[in-house]
Amino acid sequence: MEFKKNILCIGAGYVGGPTMAVIAMKCPEYKVNVVDINNEKIKQWNSDQLPIFEPGLDEVVQKCRGKNLFFSTEIEKGIREADIIFVSVNTPTKTFGEGTGMASDLQYWEKTAHQIVEHANGDKTIVEKSTLPVRTAEAMERILKANDKGFHFEVVSNPEFLAEGTAIRDLLDSDRVLVGSHKTERGMAAAREIVNIYKHWLSDDKIITTNLWSSELSKLVANAFLAQRISSINSISALCEKTDADITEISYAVGADSRIGNKFLNPSVGFGGSCFKKDILNLVYIARSYHLNEVADYWHQVIKMNDFQKDRFVRQIVKEMFSTVANKKIVLFGFAFKANTGDTRESPAIDITKKLLEERAQVIITDPQALDNARMDLKNYDGLVTYEPNPYRAAESADAIAIITEWNEYKLLDYQKIYAAMKKPAFIFDGRNILNHEELYKIGFNVYPLGKTQLSHFK
Ligand code: UDX
Ligand code: ADP
Repeated sequence: MEFKKNILCIGAGYVGGPTMAVIAMKCPEYKVNVVDINNEKIKQWNSDQLPIFEPGLDEVVQKCRGKNLFFSTEIEKGIREADIIFVSVNTPTKTFGEGTGMASDLQYWEKTAHQIVEHANGDKTIVEKSTLPVRTAEAMERILKANDKGFHFEVVSNPEFLAEGTAIRDLLDSDRVLVGSHKTERGMAAAREIVNIYKHWLSDDKIITTNLWSSELSKLVANAFLAQRISSINSISALCEKTDADITEISYAVGADSRIGNKFLNPSVGFGGSCFKKDILNLVYIARSYHLNEVADYWHQVIKMNDFQKDRFVRQIVKEMFSTVANKKIVLFGFAFKANTGDTRESPAIDITKKLLEERAQVIITDPQALDNARMDLKNYDGLVTYEPNPYRAAESADAIAIITEWNEYKLLDYQKIYAAMKKPAFIFDGRNILNHEELYKIGFNVYPLGKTQLSHFK
């Protein structure tokens, strides 16, 4: 079949995979190729066991794969064939050199830009999809323009706003899609090309076009604002524990103000995920590089508060368990950075586990989706951590349960049965406030919610 356009996506990860699957489903007249350097991952994309767990993704992939959606490692061929190239390779925070721990490591992006220049055989529109620091497009344009083939590469920014666990829903029913481009004739034409993709299923008012830099910065700012809400409510949860105030009541009362809104006000052991910390650090780094130290400090505090919350959670566990957890069995219910995903990137569970191990606790981890990733995250702690998919078995003869991820199934467990199999006194630290604390207390648990009065049998 003749396709109207060839779309290539470089990077078959959490962003590239689901986004391209939805584009393929909604634009049957476009051919969508997704390529990756990781052969194993591509094999998985071509199998029944997709490399990422995302509700609704299997159905979309099954509908389009082999028809107009293809996964391969043929990057060079893909570049040659493509009219539009989405780049969604990873951009982790730098672990070396200038900007360590702050700036994004752009080596994968840069390599991709060089590959595009080398293998292109005509003009192309290049779409920044990965989260990138502001002005990356400019840097990339320098590489792309430094070609002696006479081809034109127009860079467009189309940041991703999907959240894991709801990626397919977020893509199908987006609040907005952002397309940033140069305000030149060529820039605007390239933006229209991208807008036309999304117009297949979104109305015009959902598609925002801006200049390139606004688009890049909007992505960082949106994530910084979301993370800031969580740090704000988490800071208040600490205050609630010192007073008689209840964080659930406060979240409700504050969120009822329509100017504030009620979303993203759930206290937690801390936010995780691949975006929030990285994006804020990028914002901080950019602000500092322009000597805007007050701006940088302001946003950095969001991350510091998140670290404080994780630290505080472990300190409370140790304190309440008679100031020592050495050789005590502590079960983490959940390791994913949030429910409905197997992703563990920047999960608070990682720091919490490490801190508990420093305290010489025996850590048992259970999670319905994230145990493989947990094993990789904790590979340096082999032998010190036990992994058990069944939460009942995980809690057998344990001293304490710490709820880390708000999986729905943890709300539905038989806690009477769990209590009977645990050591006494039995503790529950609910780092997500998802359980019925009164009921647990009646069963016999000593219960420590976030931002609420603790229910202990010791007094
Ligand atoms: C986020 C943004 O939501 C998305 O728009 C962007 O494209 C990528 O980053 P994601 O990282 O998938 O998405 O997860 P999100 O649902 O935003 O949650 C991030 C973290 O905040 C999780 O650890 C979650 O548990 C935590 N969280 C969220 C809270 O602690 N409390 C809340 O009220 C909401
Ligand atoms: P994200 O959450 O941003 O999608 P992931 O790490 O899930 O990040 O996905 C990024 C993907 O990009 C990985 O599968 C990685 O193998 C791939 N990748 C990195 N560099 C290249 C490259 N030069 N060519 C093709 N794929 C790449």
